[in-house]
Amino acid sequence: MRPLNFLYALSALLPTAVAASRHTCRVSPLGHGRDDTDQVLAAIARCGHGGTTIFEEGSFNITRKMTWDLVDAQVDLYGRMSFVPDIDYWLNATNTYRVVFIQDQASWFVITGTDFTIDAHGTGGIQGNGQPWWNFYTTVPRLDGDGRPIALTVYKATRGVIRDFTIDSQPFWCNCVAESKDIVYDGMKCNATNTNPEFFNQNIVPNTDGIDTFRSENVALLNWDITCGDDCIAIKGNSTNVLVKDTICRGGNGIAFGSLAQYVNLTDKVQNVLVDNATMTQINTTIQPNMNNGVYFKSWDGSVNGVPPTGGGGGPGFAKNITLRNIFLNNVSRPTTVSQTNDAKTGDLPSIFRFEDISWENWKGNSLSNEIVALECSAAVNCTGMSFSNIDISIPAGETPKIVCQNAVDVKGLSRGGLVNTACTLDAYALGSPSSSVARAILVTRTERAPSFLDYFVRFGQDADAVADVSTT
Ligand SMILES: *[C@@H]1O[C@H](CO)[C@@H](O)[C@H](O)[C@H]1NC(C)=O
Ligand SMILES: *[C@@H]1O[C@H](CO)[C@@H](O)[C@H](O)[C@H]1NC(C)=O
Ligand SMILES: *[C@@H]1O[C@H](CO)[C@@H](O)[C@H](O)[C@H]1NC(C)=O
Ligand SMILES: *[C@@H]1O[C@H](CO)[C@@H](O)[C@H](O)[C@H]1NC(C)=O
Ligand SMILES: *[C@@H]1O[C@H](CO)[C@@H](O)[C@H](O)[C@H]1NC(C)=O
Ligand SMILES: *[C@@H]1O[C@H](CO)[C@@H](O)[C@H](O)[C@H]1NC(C)=O
Ligand SMILES: *[C@@H]1O[C@H](CO)[C@@H](O)[C@H](O)[C@H]1NC(C)=O
Ligand SMILES: *[C@@H]1O[C@H](CO)[C@@H](O)[C@H](O)[C@H]1NC(C)=O
Ligand SMILES: *[C@@H]1O[C@H](CO)[C@@H](O)[C@H](O)[C@H]1NC(C)=O
Ligand SMILES: *[C@@H]1O[C@H](CO)[C@@H](O)[C@H](O)[C@H]1NC(C)=O
Repeated sequence: MRPLNFLYALSALLPTAVAASRHTCRVSPLGHGRDDTDQVLAAIARCGHGGTTIFEEGSFNITRKMTWDLVDAQVDLYGRMSFVPDIDYWLNATNTYRVVFIQDQASWFVITGTDFTIDAHGTGGIQGNGQPWWNFYTTVPRLDGDGRPIALTVYKATRGVIRDFTIDSQPFWCNCVAESKDIVYDGMKCNATNTNPEFFNQNIVPNTDGIDTFRSENVALLNWDITCGDDCIAIKGNSTNVLVKDTICRGGNGIAFGSLAQYVNLTDKVQNVLVDNATMTQINTTIQPNMNNGVYFKSWDGSVNGVPPTGGGGGPGFAKNITLRNIFLNNVSRPTTVSQTNDAKTGDLPSIFRFEDISWENWKGNSLSNEIVALECSAAVNCTGMSFSNIDISIPAGETPKIVCQNAVDVKGLSRGGLVNTACTLDAYALGSPSSSVARAILVTRTERAPSFLDYFVRFGQDADAVADVSTT
């Protein structure tokens, strides 16, 4: 257990009798065929405020939705919370929570509260039992807001740490953090892998995003290992001060900013995001055919086509001050794109959502297509402050590397024959002929940003004690 510094400070101020009265609850699985939900909730009710709850190794059978309200609490989760794969039951809206506003998503397990650590010690977490869900949805359309539950939702939480946690076979999004502040996830594994040979060579695990962040600030995602068929990490509206560090994404869509601007009457603000040391890698394509992007940005366009959760568009806002540093690509279809035409229809208005001050630094690896960079920005606002340095990505032998630049003004660092292209406003801006059979786009180096945010967050993220240092000063 690693209590937070400020808890030491707090307990020093309290009478020792109070400090000594902290409860410890210890819970073991009841065994096959038995329902563990009652005893799990009873332990959290007794020890979730000012105590420690220990869930022993093994499988806890969870048959209904649950909220853990944790205040000044430690949970040692050695075992797995296994959610019964009763699809009809969970799809009944009364049986899940609807706390995640964006796209009306459903949750079966919500963590809320303040000043807590959940340590799953590398053995514990959640068994999502996703295979029956994925099989089922090969015959039924998937719609946002249709009630498929998010595996782990952190909602209205402050100063929480989730450590060395494994989520196996999430039916839908693996994680969501919403309306929360000062949250550190250090060590998260999610794995949505189809094992049904009937569906080999197809992606039957769409929407198994590693995490969606929404209306949250100071969020650190450290040491994530995500196997999925959709966005590895999706930064959605009003996510600010987000650090994504030491991530591996296996299959799926890569790291996303978006979709943004879906809600015409809500402003989406995304600001101060650093992605440092992320690998996007293809896996066995029989198991998961997609590795679609490195990092990509997506907004809806400027017209309103229907209403959320499934329709929408026309929303205002911006995504700015974003750094994508030390990115490794292994057989991705498209390394990086900005697109502003999510669900667009012919004749739609251009998006009013702005992408500003985005920096791509130190990218290595290979792309399966020749399109290394595609900035397809909205004519209504333009992309501004797009900056590239040390981009070294190979494309298939014999092809000519391509950069697409639409409505992106003052792009820095994209070069042709050593010349810096300072006004990338051409529709299709091709790099010079490759000098070898493996074409590479070598882009100029730029002065690095001041490292203050990184320093802050590395401290913030790597050590729970630092969370308290930061939040109490
Ligand atoms: C979980 O509990 C339900 C209800 O008691 C029971 O029907 C089911 O068999 C249990 N599942 C497992 C895997 O133990
Ligand atoms: C959903 O569950 C509630 C409570 O158990 C029940 O009253 C209702 O009939 C169910 N709805 C459907 C469509 O099954
Ligand atoms: C994900 O699960 C599949 C199927 O169980 C397994 O083969 C694979 O090794 C797992 N991936 C990781 C990264 O653990
Ligand atoms: C980058 O992240 C990987 C995990 O994905 C980790 O193994 C590696 O040590 C990290 N590299 C650096 C330089 O921190
Ligand atoms: C984002 O925050 C702003 C206030 O800064 C608010 O007006 C807006 O509605 C929020 N958007 C969302 C999606 O919550
Ligand atoms: C990338 O593609 C090449 C050629 O198909 C293949 O040999 C290699 O194993 C792939 N790498 C990964 C990590 O899948
Ligand atoms: C990919 O997975 C399939 C199905 O499990 C297996 O038959 C095949 O051998 C795997 N390919 C490689 C290169 O591991
Ligand atoms: C925002 O628009 C949605 C439809 O897109 C509507 O359901 C909602 O009531 C509106 N909210 C406000 C505050 O106007
Ligand atoms: C977008 O950039 C072009 C080219 O610099 C400029 O002519 C146009 O006025 C800009 N549009 C906006 C909305 O700033
Ligand atoms: C931009 O974000 C970085 C972190 O990536 C942070 O250090 C810096 O302070 C931010 N800049 C502004 C002007 O907010």
